[in-house]
Amino acid sequence: MRFVARFEHRLKLNCRLACTLCKQIPHARLAKSHNIRQLPDVIFRRKYSNYQQIHTMGSTLCKEYKTTGKVTPNPDQNSGAVGSYQSKCDNKTMSTNVTDPDAEYTEPVAVCKANEIQENEMKQLEFNEDTKVLLVKQNGRLHALGNRCTHYGAPMHTGGLGVGRVRCPWHGACFNIETGDIEDFPGLDSLPCYKVDVSAEGEVMVRMKRSDLEKSSRLKDMVKRQPQDERCFIVVGGGPSGAVCAETLRQEGYTGRLILVCREPYLPYDRVKVSKALSIGIESLLFRDEQFYKEHDIEVWLGVSAEKLVTAQKELHCSNGYVVKYDKIYIATGCSAYKPPIPGADLANVKTIREYDDARAILDLVTPQSNVVCLGSSFIALEAAAFLVTKVASVTVVGRENVPLKAAFGEEIGGRILKLYEDNNVNMLMGSGITQIIADDDGKLVEVMLLDETTIPCDLLIMGTGSKLNTDFLANSGVRLNKNGSVDVTDFLETNVPDVYVGGDIANAHIYGLAQSRVNIGHYQLAQYHGRIAAINMCGSIKRSEAVPFFFTQIFGKGFRYAGHGSYKEIIIDGSLEDLQFIAYFVNHADTVTAVASCGRDPIVAQFAELISQGKCLGRNQIENEADRQAWTAMLKQPLPKIR
Ligand SMILES: Cc1cc2nc3c(=O)[nH]c(=O)nc-3n(C[C@H](O)[C@H](O)[C@H](O)COP(=O)(O)OP(=O)(O)OC[C@H]3O[C@@H](n4cnc5c(N)ncnc54)[C@H](O)[C@@H]3O)c2cc1C
Ligand code: FES
Repeated sequence: MRFVARFEHRLKLNCRLACTLCKQIPHARLAKSHNIRQLPDVIFRRKYSNYQQIHTMGSTLCKEYKTTGKVTPNPDQNSGAVGSYQSKCDNKTMSTNVTDPDAEYTEPVAVCKANEIQENEMKQLEFNEDTKVLLVKQNGRLHALGNRCTHYGAPMHTGGLGVGRVRCPWHGACFNIETGDIEDFPGLDSLPCYKVDVSAEGEVMVRMKRSDLEKSSRLKDMVKRQPQDERCFIVVGGGPSGAVCAETLRQEGYTGRLILVCREPYLPYDRVKVSKALSIGIESLLFRDEQFYKEHDIEVWLGVSAEKLVTAQKELHCSNGYVVKYDKIYIATGCSAYKPPIPGADLANVKTIREYDDARAILDLVTPQSNVVCLGSSFIALEAAAFLVTKVASVTVVGRENVPLKAAFGEEIGGRILKLYEDNNVNMLMGSGITQIIADDDGKLVEVMLLDETTIPCDLLIMGTGSKLNTDFLANSGVRLNKNGSVDVTDFLETNVPDVYVGGDIANAHIYGLAQSRVNIGHYQLAQYHGRIAAINMCGSIKRSEAVPFFFTQIFGKGFRYAGHGSYKEIIIDGSLEDLQFIAYFVNHADTVTAVASCGRDPIVAQFAELISQGKCLGRNQIENEADRQAWTAMLKQPLPKIR
């Protein structure tokens, strides 16, 4: 009974629904509100043991506000009430085995005056000479977190503040301001979160866990395997999606056997760097080291492919000869690079880039005398061309469209990117194609023939010509495949077969707020996000995918961002394309902004992604005032719409 009372109390504190209604919710009501069969207490507790954990993440309306008792809270909330704004990220450690929880923390450090931070403001403040903290004020409460994004280290105070969370200005990762927990990606870890007090003198005092000193990220608590838990979950594919799924399962309390089946011979790594920095070593790319997987009882089967799925028997057949019975399975096998059937495409020096080994193979062929041709004018060919141009004799990009990246950014921005490449000595042959790949008498690649039958010298041809989804092994499994090989999933990432979940590049999934029907999108952020959502649902909790697609690329030191999805009839550019300091609003026939792209204007794309994820929308009329086109960002701090 004590457990139930405590549990319901936690629900009251943490469940968004409970907070909104500001009432205690008996589990029967909670079950009803989530369309779940009412369960006896004991089963309810087991099934929803993660429920409060999940809802903590979004619980912005719930104020677990503890005053010190000695002082009266300041009625003027905007000046920062006196009292303790205790973080929620470390309740577990604080409540167990520690006789004096304060001993874990540093002495308080005054970082600013409470009246120096305004409502809905974020500030970077100095904790000590090595450590900066992010101080956020929202709903009159102060929150202190690490200020370096756990992905590539962007300063978070320059990001976008939404309701209850902050979005990274560079690539859109999201962190809960109450807990520091990561809620959207890219990245893996959460932000450390600190204790904040306002002293009687009106100073904001921050205390850090001693173990967090000098750390810019925090690994969420993870469980280990328990021998009495006889379940077996399998994750197929060690890309970003599978990697996030595997570790999230342990973070969500899954204690059964966990196998990660990886076709590549490497532990999961950061694929997006493969085409941007071909020479980078695998050690610098790995998400986690071997010890991490050992410590958390995640069996990683490297160099092993899933060959057949038999859903009727719940079996996975693998290339190492094992047939494994699973209770639940997550499949994120991504894509393989596609080579068009151009005569000569099978010559040795014709390469594609998808995996780390592809980059190694290309580097092995590159010399300062090489003439490299990149076929395709989308991201992978362009990124490889940008990397190689300073290392070889010549780089030529051959593309079908009249400008590069036209499909992603449209003609005008594509035209500016064309100039960027030309300015950096890349030969750009647009509106063209390769009809033949020609070898000498020794079978060595020497030139390629273009559409107009001219030839250009070529020692190395890199094909960035699309990809094919890795789902052939699912044929006849019972999992329904679409024509392009993608798999339709529910909002909870489950397929038409119970206990089979799919995510990442192979998923045909709903996205939030921008499309009526499912879409198959290949973005890194989305792949990681799917991994997390699937894991939460596999653990028996309920979490709907509310993904807003976000992608990024880096070309000649310029970061391009894009968030959103959908067709457009017009692109409204704010700023200077010439100086590569611009925002592009993609507007559709209904005068709705379906996507925003930018270069040199962070955090606008992150703010747009946050706006859509809040269930709000941006209309043409809200960006027409040239004097203040970004006025719409104020909507981010307004309450969430009632129906989301
Ligand atoms: C070179 C490159 C650069 C990119 N850059 C960007 C970028 O800058 N920004 C961005 O947003 N997106 C980028 N992307 C796209 C992004 O990387 C993908 O969307 C993302 O990797 C998809 O993740 P995934 O886990 O679904 O699949 P993948 O990353 O493809 O991983 C799938 C894994 O499963 C393995 N596998 C396949 N079949 C089997 C099987 N039968 N059994 C076991 N394992 C199997 C594969 O070998 C692979 O390791 C880039 C992609 C590439 C290739
Ligand atoms: S640096 Fe923050 S998402 Fe990439």
